[in-house]
Amino acid sequence: MQTRLKELPIDLDRERLPRHVAVIMDGNGRWAQRQGLPRIMGHRRGVDALKDLLRCCKDWGIKALTAYAFSTENWGRPLEEVEFLMTLFERVLRREIDDMMKENVQIQFLGNLSALPQSLQGEIQRSMTKTQDNNGIQFNVATNYGARQEILQAVHAIAQEVQEGKIQLDEIDEALFSRHLYTANVSDPDLLIRTSGEMRLSNFLLWQMAYAELYITDILWPDFDREQFHQALFAYQQRKRRFGKI
Ligand code: FPP
Repeated sequence: MQTRLKELPIDLDRERLPRHVAVIMDGNGRWAQRQGLPRIMGHRRGVDALKDLLRCCKDWGIKALTAYAFSTENWGRPLEEVEFLMTLFERVLRREIDDMMKENVQIQFLGNLSALPQSLQGEIQRSMTKTQDNNGIQFNVATNYGARQEILQAVHAIAQEVQEGKIQLDEIDEALFSRHLYTANVSDPDLLIRTSGEMRLSNFLLWQMAYAELYITDILWPDFDREQFHQALFAYQQRKRRFGKI
């Protein structure tokens, strides 16, 4: 991993950085297969790439990073790979918690956490509680996350509140709806980066990304380094964000 480029590159404008970057970390399996390694080695290297990106965001002044670690559809992968990923998440959390405290990272998990293995749920709760007052950077990990499922559970919760008379129908607006999503305390992503060239959103933050800028690169996730991130931010700063206006 590169440790140079600690400072914000001079061709980037500090005032116009995205506040919140989201990443779909695609291509771990292909990266490993290309090296003649088992797919799981790609996930291991993927963790290193994510860790460096988090540090880079912090170094360069980005306030929030959200990573898509495991989708509600990923349960359909071979059992061996699913079990490996669950164990990896748990091990990484246990290993990185001290560094996250040192780096002032607030970690938060988005998704239906109750379906995850008990021991992973325990580690998730510990890490969220321990880092809850940190304010250096907000790091959101989407785990057993699916946007349609998130939207449906928000609809259910709101319908229930209407039924119980806690809110009136005409109080339902975008702000109220957003408060019922997993991302209630997270600003909408300004930039989505997807690696490995796939041109899809894959059920990730569908509501929240209504106005996000999309950046898709052919680089496989384990090879996504600071220079790649620099290029993504440079491309972002060339865009004109109009939010539907002219
Ligand atoms: C996609 O590559 C990657 C994943 C489904 C897993 C990503 C998870 C990590 C990098 C670990 C993050 C860990 C923590 C604790 C935050 P793929 O397997 O779909 O690759 P392929 O498209 O080449 O098959």
